[in-house]
Amino acid sequence: MCGIVGILSTEPVALDLVDALRRLEYRGYDSAGIATVENGHLGRRRAEGKLRNLESRLASEPLNGHIGIGHTRWATHGRPIERNAHPHMTPRVSVVHNGIIENFRELREELTAAGHVFETETDTETVVHLITDQMDKGAGPIDAVKSALKRLHGAFALAIIFAGEDNLMMAARLGSPLVVGHGEGRMFLGSDAIALAPFTDTVTYLEEGDFAVLRNDGVEIFDRDENPAQRVPIKSQANALLVDKGNHRHFMAKEIHEQPEVISHTLAHYLDMAEGRIHLPDIGIDLSSVPRVTISACGTAYYAGLVAKYWIERYARVPVEIDIASELRYREAPLPQGGLAIFVSQSGETADTLATLRYCKEQGQRIAAVVNVRTSTIARESDVVLPTLAGPEIGVASTKAFTCQLTALACFTLALGRARGTIDEATERTLVKELMEVPRQIADQLFDETQYEHLAHLLAKSNDVLYLGRGISFPLAMEGALKLKEISYLHAEGYAAGELKHGPIALIDEKVPVIIVAPRDGLFEKTISNMQEVAARGGQIVMISNALDDDVGCPLTAHIRMPDAHDFTNPIIYAVPIQLIAYHTAVQMGTDVDQPRNLAKSVTVE
Ligand code: M6R
Repeated sequence: MCGIVGILSTEPVALDLVDALRRLEYRGYDSAGIATVENGHLGRRRAEGKLRNLESRLASEPLNGHIGIGHTRWATHGRPIERNAHPHMTPRVSVVHNGIIENFRELREELTAAGHVFETETDTETVVHLITDQMDKGAGPIDAVKSALKRLHGAFALAIIFAGEDNLMMAARLGSPLVVGHGEGRMFLGSDAIALAPFTDTVTYLEEGDFAVLRNDGVEIFDRDENPAQRVPIKSQANALLVDKGNHRHFMAKEIHEQPEVISHTLAHYLDMAEGRIHLPDIGIDLSSVPRVTISACGTAYYAGLVAKYWIERYARVPVEIDIASELRYREAPLPQGGLAIFVSQSGETADTLATLRYCKEQGQRIAAVVNVRTSTIARESDVVLPTLAGPEIGVASTKAFTCQLTALACFTLALGRARGTIDEATERTLVKELMEVPRQIADQLFDETQYEHLAHLLAKSNDVLYLGRGISFPLAMEGALKLKEISYLHAEGYAAGELKHGPIALIDEKVPVIIVAPRDGLFEKTISNMQEVAARGGQIVMISNALDDDVGCPLTAHIRMPDAHDFTNPIIYAVPIQLIAYHTAVQMGTDVDQPRNLAKSVTVE
């Protein structure tokens, strides 16, 4: 869940390392550091907190080496203080690491008994001492790393440099992503291609168990058995503009506003717009005979999967089991032969989702992945990839990735329903037409955000906020609560509206805003009854709906007016107001919108 980078060049690399790290801050940002080799010696600068602190440090104490590694940290082992910040080093070796070394305690004891002195509380430092130990015993750097790798259990991506070696970097990957970038007389390493975007668009993804020897004119890659491995370089889709906020104050705002465009891109992948028909690329699975669908994911991606459960069961008439990945992976759930398991993930690297995918594979499921990063581990381990074309999402709070996940899953539902004969051609054409209207309907909502600014004043004064929704709006209520809590730090809960009377109604008084996702669909009247229960107890109702105020019959504190749309597309459209409510509340409260406390964009630990 940290970000790592490495550069081999013939010129000083420190500033480029910081530039690359800036693109990885979404992976963690509680401390950062770089190390280079200068005149044969390892030099290091580290700083607690955001990357700008490291930049200030480098301005007063520069590093001038032509080879270097860098790290931005999300603490797992050891407090987020400078002493625990990466790179870790001995006078001979310096290492940056993303992942967890599970057997670090035994290794630490063994190395301490052998006379090594540890300076930090981290698991990573054991790697440094293991390599140093081998070198002290006479091994060259490459052999020392090879023998250290054999001792490590856990998940890791590593970049390693050595004193006295200004043209040698080693890298290894097991369970955490790592990409090699190819430049002209320069080579790069990064946790993802976005980090390397300003320097090169030619990248090679290391496979599980690979290690690599980099010099500034190329790379040799070896598999887990130490055999030379052919990994084909590809052109990365990332480019240098990706971390630009444009004219927005935050990445989250930019990403909310990108939704009409990226949803269009995603639709274009799955629809024949000219014909008004669904056009799912051949996925190599006979959808007509799928007995059951299992869906698993985490966080916002899970809520996208939950919406898909309502869609698939209603329109394709296939039973769907869904669970959050951290539960499903340990439940030992029986899964039917020939079943289809769908994993939803923006990053494609979420550890729990990946582990659940592997479990389902062992249970004989065909695996489909709805992912935003097509080169990710989840994508590569799936039988079928249903891509979202959201582009890189930098804000920790997922917005455009969520609506693109919904878009891809809506298209998949249509394909499944067509294959099973539960959706006829006329219905297919109607629903495709509705999907094609979504980008415009969202663009209309983004025209004026004044009402959200007003609403933010109310929410910012609250201690608790409830979100309610029924049927397919229930996952949106939960997503709304998640979005608000993660970026504003306000306590919020999402409930099925019908569940209110079974407990949460006790929370309601005049200080509690209740945000109700209530499209005028077949369940609207039922939701209105719940709204009246809230009103009777003095709750402040914020209704998100295409209904009229007169339809409600109780006072509303605010009414976010939605366009009239089809029940099928409502979840995609109603996602936008819940994002804007959270965004403007966080801005009002002055929190760090793009990098909220304690979170990371890509959660590669369980
Ligand atoms: O990369 P993934 O989609 O697998 O990530 C899953 C969750 O960690 C993610 O959706 C998280 O809940 C977001 N911060 C929510 O905004």
